[in-house]
Amino acid sequence: MKNVAILGSTGSIGRNSLEVIARQSDRFRATYLTANKNIDLLQEQIAQVHPRGVVVLDKCNASLLGKVLGDKTEILAGEEGLLEIVGREDVDIVISSLVGFAGLKPTIRAIQHGKTVALANKETLVVAGQLITSLVKKHGVQLVPIDSEHSAILQCLAGERRSDIAKLILTASGGPFLNRPLSEFDSITIKEALKHPTWAMGKKVTIDSATLMNKGLEVIEAHWLFDLPAEQIEVIIHPQSIIHSMVEFVDGSLKAQMGLPDMKIPIQYALSYPDRLPMNGKRVDFSELGSMTFFRPDRRKFRCLQIAFDVLAVGGTAPAVMNAANEIAVEAFLDGKIPFKKIPDLIEGAIASHRSISTPELENITEADGAARDYVHSCV
Ligand SMILES: NC(=O)c1ccc[n+]([C@@H]2O[C@H](COP(=O)([O-])OP(=O)(O)OC[C@H]3O[C@@H](n4cnc5c(N)ncnc54)[C@H](OP(=O)(O)O)[C@@H]3O)[C@@H](O)[C@H]2O)c1
Repeated sequence: MKNVAILGSTGSIGRNSLEVIARQSDRFRATYLTANKNIDLLQEQIAQVHPRGVVVLDKCNASLLGKVLGDKTEILAGEEGLLEIVGREDVDIVISSLVGFAGLKPTIRAIQHGKTVALANKETLVVAGQLITSLVKKHGVQLVPIDSEHSAILQCLAGERRSDIAKLILTASGGPFLNRPLSEFDSITIKEALKHPTWAMGKKVTIDSATLMNKGLEVIEAHWLFDLPAEQIEVIIHPQSIIHSMVEFVDGSLKAQMGLPDMKIPIQYALSYPDRLPMNGKRVDFSELGSMTFFRPDRRKFRCLQIAFDVLAVGGTAPAVMNAANEIAVEAFLDGKIPFKKIPDLIEGAIASHRSISTPELENITEADGAARDYVHSCV
C-alpha cells in the first residue's frame, strides 16, 4: 500500500487523483489532502477518504474548518503546513498539483525528503528546472510527469536509448481560438477563453491553453524532464487531442501515445510507474474518430508560445519572470481588468525589465518572481 499526499486535492487534477485512488484502493491511500479556499469541497473529501491530515493554505479557512471538524482530523495551515506534510513518514508519493509558483517549495521539500513526486505543477520545472533536476539526482528520487504530453513521451521512451531520440513532438489542441483570426482577438471574452474544446481543467491552465502559453510552459518542462535542447522539441497542433505526444527516433521511426483525453490515465500511470494498471472506461474508436489532423502553430498569433522558446534560450531566471508575469496577467484577464490580447504584452514587458541571472538559487528565483509580479501589477 502506497500513501499519497495530494497537494491541491480540491483542484481539477486533485479531484481526478482522488478518483484514481478510489478505484485502486488496494494499492493507494490518500493520507493528506490540501486546499486553498474551497473548504466545502475539502470537507466532503475528508468525509469520503478519511485522510490523516489536511492543510488549508488560507489561515482563516483553516480555523473555520477546525470549528466544524473538531479534533477528528489534523488540520494544518499555511505554506508551513504544506512543507510539513510532504516530509512525513506516512507519505510515499506526493502528487504536486497546486497551480502556479505556489507549487515550487512543497515540491522541493518533497524531493529533499526522498519522496516520489508525481508532477502536474509544470510551473515548478519552468521556474526552477535546473535546481529541481539537480535535487532529483542528488536525492535519487523519481519525478514522474502527470501532464498528458510528458506522460506520453515517457511512455514512448520506455525501452529506448536516449541517444536514439531525434526529437520530441508535443501535441496541442490549439485551444478555443485556433481558427479565430488575430484581427478578431480584441473581442475575446472570458467565457469564450474558458471554453476549452477537448479538456476540462482549472481556470489558469485553461487560459494558458487559449494563449498557447501552456504549450510554451510544456516545452520548457520537456526540456528539463528529458534533458533535450529546444531544437529537439517541436510543437504541432492536433485539435482532436487523441495523440498526446510523439517521439521521433534517429532512423525516422515515430512512436505516438494515444488515448481519449482523460487525465485519470496519466495520473494513474504516474502513480504506478513503471507498471501499468488496468482502467475501465471509454476507449478510442477509430471508426468513430474518422480523421486526425495536424497544423504548424502560428507563433505570431499565439505570441506566448514564441516567448516561451525565447526565455528557454536565455535561461537562468528568465523563465521564472515569464511565468510570474503570466500568472498575474491571466489573473487580471479573469478579473476583467485587461483584454485577452494584452497578456503577451505584459509578459514581454516584464521580461524586458529583467536582467536574467544564470544558474539561479531558490532565492534568486523567488526575487525574480516577485519583481515580475510587481511589474505586471503596476501595469494593470
Ligand atoms: N487540470 C488539468 O487537466 C491539468 C493537466 C495537466 C497539467 N495541469 C497542471 O496541474 C496544476 C493544477 O492544475 P488544476 O487545473 O488542477 O488547477 P485548479 O483546478 O485551479 O486547482 C488548483 C489547486 O491548488 C489549490 N491552490 C490554488 N492556489 C493555491 C496556493 N496559492 N497555495 C496552495 N494551494 C493553492 C486550489 O485550492 P482551492 O480549490 O481551495 O482554491 C486547488 O486545490 C497546474 O500546474 C496545471 O498546469 C493541469
